[in-house]
Amino acid sequence: MTTEIHSLESYKEEYRKSVTDPEAFWKKEAETFTWFKPFETVCDWNFDEPNIKWFGGGKTNITYNCLDRHIETRGDQTAILWEPNNPDDEVKKYTYKELLDEVCKASNMLKSLGIQKGDRVVFYMPMVPELAIGVLACARIGAVHSVVFAGFSAQALADRVDDAQAKMIICSDYNNRGKKSIPVKQVVDEAMDIGCNSVDTVIVHKNTGFEINWSDDTDQSWHENMAKQSSVCEAEPMDSEDLLFILYTSGSTGKPKGVVHTCGGYMVYTCYSFKNVFQYKKGDIYWCTADIGWITGHSYIVYGPLLAGATTIMFEGVPTFPDAGRFWDICQKHKVTQFYTAPTAIRALMAKGDEWPAKYDLSSIKVLGSVGEPINEEAWHWYDKHIGKGNAPIVDTWWQTETGGIMITPLPGITDTKPTYASYPMPGIQAILVDKDGYELTENNVEGLLCIKYPWPSMIRTTYGDHARCKQVYFSTFKGMYFTGDGARRDENGRIRVIGRVDDVINVSGHRMGTAEVENAINEHPNVVESAVVGYPHDIKGQGIYAYVITQDKTTNDDFRREILAVVTKEIGPIAKPDKIQFVSDLPKTRSGKIMRRILRKIASKDTGNLGDISTLLNPDAVQDVIDNALV
Ligand code: PRX
Repeated sequence: MTTEIHSLESYKEEYRKSVTDPEAFWKKEAETFTWFKPFETVCDWNFDEPNIKWFGGGKTNITYNCLDRHIETRGDQTAILWEPNNPDDEVKKYTYKELLDEVCKASNMLKSLGIQKGDRVVFYMPMVPELAIGVLACARIGAVHSVVFAGFSAQALADRVDDAQAKMIICSDYNNRGKKSIPVKQVVDEAMDIGCNSVDTVIVHKNTGFEINWSDDTDQSWHENMAKQSSVCEAEPMDSEDLLFILYTSGSTGKPKGVVHTCGGYMVYTCYSFKNVFQYKKGDIYWCTADIGWITGHSYIVYGPLLAGATTIMFEGVPTFPDAGRFWDICQKHKVTQFYTAPTAIRALMAKGDEWPAKYDLSSIKVLGSVGEPINEEAWHWYDKHIGKGNAPIVDTWWQTETGGIMITPLPGITDTKPTYASYPMPGIQAILVDKDGYELTENNVEGLLCIKYPWPSMIRTTYGDHARCKQVYFSTFKGMYFTGDGARRDENGRIRVIGRVDDVINVSGHRMGTAEVENAINEHPNVVESAVVGYPHDIKGQGIYAYVITQDKTTNDDFRREILAVVTKEIGPIAKPDKIQFVSDLPKTRSGKIMRRILRKIASKDTGNLGDISTLLNPDAVQDVIDNALV
């Protein structure tokens, strides 16, 4: 079992060891897993190309370590506990033994439908157990999974399927969310109509049994195929650096990029971080409310907890159905011990009133987690007081799709906590702040750009099909280090607070969005000449989306606004819909024609006191015009 940190001294000692001899440190952790062939090297790396290899020469399978390895010691323990959308429906529990059987059947199903090692399989599914089973089945046979959040549009799904050149899509019929049943298969049908030429099979899991269209050429039933399979399937020996999955995420330019994670390093780091950050003990019931469509769900609903032999809850529904007490009802019902959610959910539930959590017994909770965006002080205190009752330390975990696992966080009951501070780096994580020229800021009480100067096992290896982009985005800004895209401050005690993105990426309700991506979607409307999108502070969502739009025929009415929202929904999905659309006649630009987003951000944030020198702009008059008509 990976090292467990239990005291401040052991944290400090682990951290020291991880920096003075990183290879010895990670070798020891990696050796706690089952390898079909031992690794020969620990880490070969160079951040220039970049070329990063962990546990070279080793062969393993992450599902062997998630499932088979636990059968003897905890085969009858619940691995996945599934809580349905409707609280009156039946909870489903899969023991480790049952989960292994299901994963083996699904593995055999994939093979019987022609999926081989290295093939890409896209998932477009709600939070049903079959999503976790399917993902693990891919990993078991060496197929590369790419989960697409089921709130994305047909176009966004097709873009991702095409980029990954996926051979198969696995979906559900419908998605139960609160009172609604949202069509899922229909979106896949649309995506198949506009792209997805590489796909030859769509496996459909019937979640509701409502009507769907069926194509005999491509569609296959999950249920019928599963019924035919044996529950024995040996785990494929995978090289440490074989691809495990691709997960698409937004950047500051262009289309979303496929972040690639590989088998060995991701396995070691997600298990190590899960155990230590959540201080998981046998018998604990851990619940992360994320969706498996995002990295948090990959690392801390599926892989990390299962590697550690935990009981992990998967929740199908939403925090406010049937009422705003649902999260707390689930915590009470299953005696949740570690609860991990996003600030946006905390703020939304805080707004519903203190009486909701007060109705439930939350005394089982030992650790509270926060992830995905900066947590503001008010939300931090509410979470601490009303959910943790002052007894459950808050771990404000900072990390990214690209980092694969939690990088900076307090360790509960071990290191101190301070509202809004992600605090201290995990052992093995050499997080530094640099100035704009890349010089390391070594003193405390400073603000700078957050970089990591040494590799860690679960780091991004490449962006799928475009290695040059990986190099350019993460390793070119500052030579010899990974640049996170975040700005941060370090306080007088060395604690780190991540302030937010310094690039054109915004974080809306914990969902990462490229402003360029939203602009491209808006520009698809034939009556739009140009647009500029920025983030602005939003009470619940953290950041809202503010769009400035120049129109062809000067239309500025609400019908047109609705049309723009419809275009964005079609191109990306409802999560990317602007909260505010301001029609403008001109956008402030530099003499070289670049939109001055800094100014637009300030205007959207009601911060027009100090706009800096605007006299050098190409069109300084545009600024006043935008200010005069701002929707703030
Ligand atoms: O800006 C940081 C913010 O979310 C970004 C990463 O987004 P994504 O890849 O979607 O992964 C989210 C879940 C790990 C980061 O660059 N972020 C994430 N966690 C925090 C955070 N900002 C402040 N505090 C955090 N705890």
